[in-house]
Amino acid sequence: MSNPLKVAVAGLGNVGVGVVKILEKHKQLIADRAGREIIITTVCARNKNTDRGVDLSSYNWVPDAATLADQDDVDIVVELIGGENGVAYETAKNTLKNAKSLVTANKAMIAHHGADLADLAQENNVALRFEAAVAGGIPIIKSIGEGLAANELNLVYGIMNGTTNYMLSQMEARGLSYNEILAETEKLGYLEADPSLDLDGIDAAHKLAILSSVAFGTKTDFDNVYIEGIRNIETVDIKYGKELGYRIKLLGITKFENGNLSQRVHPVMIDRKLPIAGVMDGFNALVVDGDFIDRTFYQGRGAGEGPTASAVVADLIDIARGHTGPAFFKPASKLVAANPVSINERKGAYYIRLHVKDEAGVIADITGSLKQANVSVKTMLQKGTEMDGTVYVVLATHETTETAMNDALKLISEFSSVIEAPLSIRIEKL
Ligand code: HSE
Repeated sequence: MSNPLKVAVAGLGNVGVGVVKILEKHKQLIADRAGREIIITTVCARNKNTDRGVDLSSYNWVPDAATLADQDDVDIVVELIGGENGVAYETAKNTLKNAKSLVTANKAMIAHHGADLADLAQENNVALRFEAAVAGGIPIIKSIGEGLAANELNLVYGIMNGTTNYMLSQMEARGLSYNEILAETEKLGYLEADPSLDLDGIDAAHKLAILSSVAFGTKTDFDNVYIEGIRNIETVDIKYGKELGYRIKLLGITKFENGNLSQRVHPVMIDRKLPIAGVMDGFNALVVDGDFIDRTFYQGRGAGEGPTASAVVADLIDIARGHTGPAFFKPASKLVAANPVSINERKGAYYIRLHVKDEAGVIADITGSLKQANVSVKTMLQKGTEMDGTVYVVLATHETTETAMNDALKLISEFSSVIEAPLSIRIEKL
């Protein structure tokens, strides 16, 4: 067997600890599969004395992550610090500049700096791997870059944030309001340290930006992902969506056609019978379409110590085997800058929820506005009078355009009988 691969781990949160545990528990199995031992030599975290439930005493302790790659007994650095910039980015750049390979779970960093880091890795002839950054335990990056490598891909979509999928699932299963499930999710510790990353769709958008590059060979372009989160979804939408045959999911959808890249993350109403509509609670799921394979579907746990650490270790094994090919599966210099497609180009149907005063002429005003904006209604439901004399009017449109829908909503919002900002959810045929 060749020399062991000597690993430094920067960041000893639950994923870092998970990596330590897997490398200990599966030492022999991993050595057999990798063709050489993979051993941790060095670790680094903010606080040396925290009890992490694993014995770290045999590893060297280095206080500054950015200097890990300078150590002689480090062949490869695992960056688990997180954050788009700061120490994580410094560590990544320094590692690659030192001609050492980098494995990271850092979705924000790869979404923002993926193309530059891929360049740096290539210049220094080392590997950059980030399977753990997208959908944890689902090996979606390797599936796309290796298993589906013979195909031209044009569509990838999926549930890429487990926390919001859990929240939407529980709202449906238990009839909880958004605020009730938010409080519970917070208590369970499922939310990111900055909850906005989950709730506002940013975390899913980071993952989507990475998948676009992996699937289409485009430069990571996070700034052109259209992003909407789940904060406006209420129990009524889940209930009325169900009556219309839909389930609400927060999806990331990326499409590439003729050099044009459409990337969006927002709540959608989808047919309840679709396989992805049945993916509930903390699970993630991805769908990838390719020209020779038709459609493929992947499901698994997208977060947590075990699934994320498993993806990190798989990347280490890959590099131990000598696989140091390009990060996005084609030379960094060949990654193309795609033309971003605005959300305003979207064509499709919409679900609209209006909270209005229950008085004469309201429906006429609403339908008049829709007519003026050239939006045609497919189904309309009016739901009982509330104690306070208000009602919900819910409708599904025929196919229309994003701009026509926005025009209609603007007109509708101006009526004094409309007491809350209208909510629209895109209905996706997938
Ligand atoms: N906050 C993320 C999620 C963690 O809920 O999916 C995994 O990236």
